[in-house]
This record gives sequence, C-alpha cells and structure tokens, in this order.
Amino acid sequence: MLIRQASLADIPQMSAFLQRLQALGKRTRPADPDFVRDTYITSADKLSCALAEKDGIVLGFQVLIYAKPGNTYDVTPGWGIIGTHVNPDVARQGVGKALFAATRVAAQTYELEKLDATIGEENAEGLGYYAAMGFETYRRKPGVICKCFELTTGAA
Ligand SMILES: CC(C)(COP(=O)(O)OP(=O)(O)OC[C@H]1O[C@@H](n2cnc3c(N)ncnc32)[C@H](O)[C@@H]1OP(=O)(O)O)[C@@H](O)C(=O)NCCC(=O)NCCS
Repeated sequence: MLIRQASLADIPQMSAFLQRLQALGKRTRPADPDFVRDTYITSADKLSCALAEKDGIVLGFQVLIYAKPGNTYDVTPGWGIIGTHVNPDVARQGVGKALFAATRVAAQTYELEKLDATIGEENAEGLGYYAAMGFETYRRKPGVICKCFELTTGAA
C-alpha cells in the first residue's frame, strides 16, 4: 500500500467509492466529481489529502482542512478538521490507520494543536475508528458526536 497526496487524476475513483458509501448509507454529503475536486483536492483550506493506493486502485483518503473562522463545522479556528473515507472493499484492513499516520505528520508540520472529527452519532465504525486513533469526545450536537485529537499529548 502506497500513501501519497491525492491529485486531480484520482477524482474518478474517489468519487466512485464515495458514491458506493452513499449507497450503503455510510455517507450523506455529495460524492460527485465536482464536489470531490472542490472539497478534497483544490480547496484553499485543505492542508493535506492523504490517499492510499495499491496497484493503481484507490483504497481510501483522509482530508485535513484548516478551520477558519465561520467554518461549516463550527470548529474552533486554528484547529484541523479531519474526514476519512475508506473503500468498502477494503474496510478493516488497516487503511484508515495508515492514513492517519500520514495526516498526523501533516498536522504536526502545520503546527496544529488539535484536530476535530465530527461523526454521525449512529456511525459505529466511524466512532470506533476515531476512538482507536486516540480521538476523545469533546462535544455533542444534534445527530453528531465531535471528537478531538490533541497533537501534543496524543498517543504515538
Ligand atoms: C471508519 C473508516 C474510516 C475506518 O477505516 P478502516 O480502514 O476500515 O479502519 P482500520 O482498518 O484502519 O481500523 C483501525 C481501527 O479502527 C477501529 N475500527 C475500524 N472499523 C471499525 C468498525 N467497523 N467497528 C469498530 N471499530 C472499528 C478498530 O479499532 C480498528 O483496529 P482493529 O481492526 O485492529 O481492531 C471506514 O470504515 C470508512 O470509511 N467508513 C465510512 C465513512 C466513515 O464513516 N468515515 C468516518 C466518519 S466521517
């Protein structure tokens, strides 16, 4: 498995498996190629979009966004906002764990102190994944649970 930054050429595969996650009821946000490009590849607020690939197949990606004042998730400005999407064909095979190792390095490079992950309250796999990565619940909003990772004290 190769971990690298996502590029424009990855958009078709990224969009395709996000649409499969939608069909499985595991995603509510858009998944079309334009959304993928604007949100995960070319967004000015994007700090990193780590992508896992094997033999030309995109296995998953994890985006790290800089929380600006007024951001969609109402995250404290200056934090990072993380989102993780793994191809359902390779779930629970360590892709998410490998992606977070790369994202964590990126967050340290940008000297972020805290990361937010906002997860649907019924998304057991998302909640389990972020808990396993060392994120801790810090607030709840209707329908979602927000978890925080502290880069200064988080587990290696
Ligand atoms: C959540 C998600 C990112 C996990 O990615 P993954 O590649 O399957 O995760 P990994 O295989 O690296 O798992 C790492 C650890 O996370 C936890 N975990 C992963 N999937 C889990 C599940 N279904 N239930 C409980 N814990 C889980 C486990 O502790 C796991 O370690 P283990 O397998 O040694 O027990 C992936 O399932 C996914 O993309 N889901 C759909 C989108 C989503 O919910 N994104 C996150 C919320 S926005």
